[in-house]
Amino acid sequence: MAQVFDRSSNALARFSLVLTGVIVIALGVTLDQLQRSPWVTRQGQRPDQPVPFSHKHHVEGLGLQCQYCHTQVEKAAYAGIPPTKTCINCHAQIWTNADLLEPVRQSWATGASIQWIRVHDLPDYVYFNHEIHVNKGIGCASCHGRVDEMPLMYQQNTLQMEWCLNCHRNPAVNLRPTSEIYNMAWAGPSNDKPVWCTSTVKGGATAQDVSCTTTEPSGKGPDVAMMQISSEAHGPTSSDVPPLGIAMPASYVKFTNQMDLGKYLTAQYHIRNPEQLSSCETCHR
Ligand code: HEC
Ligand code: HEC
Ligand code: HEC
Ligand code: HEC
Ligand code: HEC
Repeated sequence: MAQVFDRSSNALARFSLVLTGVIVIALGVTLDQLQRSPWVTRQGQRPDQPVPFSHKHHVEGLGLQCQYCHTQVEKAAYAGIPPTKTCINCHAQIWTNADLLEPVRQSWATGASIQWIRVHDLPDYVYFNHEIHVNKGIGCASCHGRVDEMPLMYQQNTLQMEWCLNCHRNPAVNLRPTSEIYNMAWAGPSNDKPVWCTSTVKGGATAQDVSCTTTEPSGKGPDVAMMQISSEAHGPTSSDVPPLGIAMPASYVKFTNQMDLGKYLTAQYHIRNPEQLSSCETCHR
């Protein structure tokens, strides 16, 4: 019987199989790249805002604190965008005729909010909360980058699941004293710039009970101060007893690198372990 397929078709079949494989892989890689591309994640894009508001001018230039405008960031899930009133506090006097500020004056006159375009926007099925991150020692800059140097706001990181998990698997790398949350230039402790921390409550009841400083404690730390107050509380009879504070040096711990500080803060702030923090229910409820 005559062969339907000659010998060469064997090679052809093999070749087309390989080709299909290559195409499938290439397609996969392309889709994966696309999925991570700035075009999808919106990373780095500066949307056309109704007013070209500059964080650089208002934060770095004028020295305004983030909380002046994002008042909810320590107390709620959402940081919040300031109402027009916040701008009018100053712009009723400054740059009153500038065309750039026309939408601000319009909004103030009509009572209609300025229609800011969202830069960061997680899908609705993801649970995210500012309050816990900020109060457990994650600074704005760890997630949003150097906002103080941004003439126009953009998204510094992908905000993809992988990015969240990367920190949740090892938060110690990013933990800082809660007093440094708004410090855009914070770089962690080093030999040149050590950080000293102490806990005012044994074991650190909340993150706010841990206090850290970048200037060497002189011995008049919170512990010492507290001891002196409590010895005074004993009344006039205890005045000949030497103040307890002098005998008790403040229990500051000195840190010269981020990992040691991170481990200390992980324990003090009662940060959950990486397994708990990367379990699906943490972010998908
Ligand atoms: C004078 C008021 C003001 C101050 C101070 C301020 N912001 Fe903003 N911020 C705004 C306004 C208005 C917007 C919305 C317009 C925009 O996106 O540029 C905004 C937007 C943002 C966004 C993006 C919101 C979105 O749509 O996703 C982030 C992140 C942000 N600010 C962080 C900060 C940080 C961090 C600081 C402190 C370093 C800070 N801001 C200080 C007024 C302020
Ligand atoms: C604490 C006072 C203060 C507040 C609050 C404030 N501004 Fe300003 N703003 C200024 C000053 C001062 C300048 C001029 C800055 C310069 O030229 O360096 C300015 C400049 C501007 C400009 C001109 C472009 C630029 O950045 O130089 C725009 C637009 C602007 N502000 C928008 C806003 C909006 C929108 C808000 C509210 C979210 C706001 N400002 C809140 C003080 C303020
Ligand atoms: C752990 C990461 C992280 C930290 C720390 C963080 N943010 Fe955000 N921020 C986000 C994410 C994610 C979104 C988008 C939330 C959404 O879409 O629901 C966001 C959104 C915002 C917005 C837009 C309004 C809103 O609440 O959705 C502002 C303003 C903002 N952040 C300001 C700040 C400021 C100021 C700080 C520091 C005090 C800060 N953020 C710290 C991750 C962070
Ligand atoms: C730079 C580090 C960092 C990044 C990035 C980060 N987180 Fe977190 N996250 C933390 C820390 C630290 C905690 C506090 C853990 C604790 O208290 O046990 C936390 C806690 C949480 C919690 C628990 C809140 C609660 O009330 O139980 C959720 C949910 C969460 N993060 C969601 C996210 C999501 C979603 C993203 C990405 C959009 C994200 N996180 C990015 C560090 C981070
Ligand atoms: C730390 C927070 C966090 C944890 C933990 C987490 N996710 Fe996600 N997940 C996200 C975020 C943020 C997105 C949205 C990503 C985006 O917009 O690109 C997401 C998106 C998804 C999606 C949508 C498809 C996609 O990839 O875009 C699926 C499915 C998903 N997660 C499954 C899981 C499963 C299963 C687990 C547990 C093994 C898990 N997630 C744990 C934050 C988290």
